Amino acid sequence: MNKNVLLTGASSGIGASISEVLSLEGYNLFLCGRRKLEKKNYFSCDLSNIENINILFKKAKEYFNGNIDILINCAGEYIYKPIDKMNIDEINYLIDLNYKAPYILSSLVIVDMKKNNWGRIINIGSISGMVGEANATLYSSTKSALSGFTKALALEVAQDNITINQINPGWVDTPLSNSCLNEDEKQEIIDVTPQKRFVEPKEIAKLCEYLISDSAKGITGQNINICAGLSIGC
Ligand SMILES: NC(=O)c1ccc[n+]([C@@H]2O[C@H](COP(=O)([O-])OP(=O)(O)OC[C@H]3O[C@@H](n4cnc5c(N)ncnc54)[C@H](OP(=O)(O)O)[C@@H]3O)[C@@H](O)[C@H]2O)c1
Repeated sequence: MNKNVLLTGASSGIGASISEVLSLEGYNLFLCGRRKLEKKNYFSCDLSNIENINILFKKAKEYFNGNIDILINCAGEYIYKPIDKMNIDEINYLIDLNYKAPYILSSLVIVDMKKNNWGRIINIGSISGMVGEANATLYSSTKSALSGFTKALALEVAQDNITINQINPGWVDTPLSNSCLNEDEKQEIIDVTPQKRFVEPKEIAKLCEYLISDSAKGITGQNINICAGLSIGC
């Protein structure tokens, strides 16, 4: 598999699992996270800063000495707070990271994808953006916005052999969920989830692997929930 993949959020959780699965499949990967890691195919930066997005794009192209065939926008953060407790810095930060960064990175990679008449973009959204989540109004709306973007861009490039899809996880067992839930809260989530479990990061990674394959060329503009049944009721 000679395709070049740019993956954000690769240093932890779901992104780390995607990186593992795709590298085993032979994809060439350029990774981004915020923490510092000593890897030659890795760039550490804060994606809420637009300058860094441009640098990341340039570094990935230099590393591949060619085009980015596949973009996976996985970096993201969660804020759980009532709306009246949100401040403007948090609002700007989450919109920049969860929505603007995937939008801008997509606008950069799409140029070569169109020239090559082949491309894949996957956005990692959230079930929270599909069904709404009290006390996560901003997070939920950034992921809903991403879902609108996914559909609109998929239409725009439908004739260029480029697919854009979004995976919406429910609660996944990662550092993100572990940092914002105590043991009682985790049990409450398991109790209300139809399959009585958290989703594993590898389940998301394996769906990415399928969506970027040629077998999935007819799937575009879709929002696919992997949520152990959370979106269908309890
Ligand atoms: N876990 C869940 O239950 C869940 C559910 C639904 C959707 N999601 C979505 O899945 C994605 C991955 O989440 P996760 O659970 O794997 O979380 P995670 O383990 O906390 O990983 C988040 C990744 O995003 C990177 N990141 C965070 N802020 C960044 C910034 N400002 N600039 C650049 N990179 C940044 C992190 O880098 P560092 O760690 O190096 O800082 C890390 O690689 C997110 O978009 C999240 O919204 C997660």
